[in-house]
Amino acid sequence: MLVVYASRGGNVASLVNSLNVRALNIDEAKDLKEDYILFTYTDGLGEVPSEVEEFLNEHSEHLKGVIASGDMMYGEENYCAAGDKIAMMYGVPCLYKFENGGTNEDVEAILKLLS
Ligand SMILES: Cc1cc2nc3c(=O)[nH]c(=O)nc-3n(C[C@H](O)[C@H](O)[C@H](O)COP(=O)(O)O)c2cc1C
Repeated sequence: MLVVYASRGGNVASLVNSLNVRALNIDEAKDLKEDYILFTYTDGLGEVPSEVEEFLNEHSEHLKGVIASGDMMYGEENYCAAGDKIAMMYGVPCLYKFENGGTNEDVEAILKLLS
């Protein structure tokens, strides 16, 4: 399935790149008409990044699931909370969470989920 991702600092982009799957940055996905899995970072204190909120306002129809990156440094209740919030708002599963740029194990696990 198509991956659409948001990455401000490069962590999410780097993990998505390791997957070697068809992927579009949210900026390149304006005319999206097919199902996709969204990869996002977490901002603020457990917040959905505003660029992702704006994107979802227009493109939630084909959203099938979300995978979130975060950092434990922001506290357990905020860890990857963008994924939980998007899942709740749009009624899709939060399929996976990974810390910062993820590990090889994360890449393997996500590839299994996407296959
Ligand atoms: C200003 C700021 C706020 C953040 N807030 C959270 C947070 O609340 N929860 C969390 O799990 N991670 C948080 N993070 C960590 C990022 O979501 C994480 O490092 C992610 O991998 C960044 O992805 P990117 O490099 O693709 O932008 C925050 C990072 C920054 C810079």
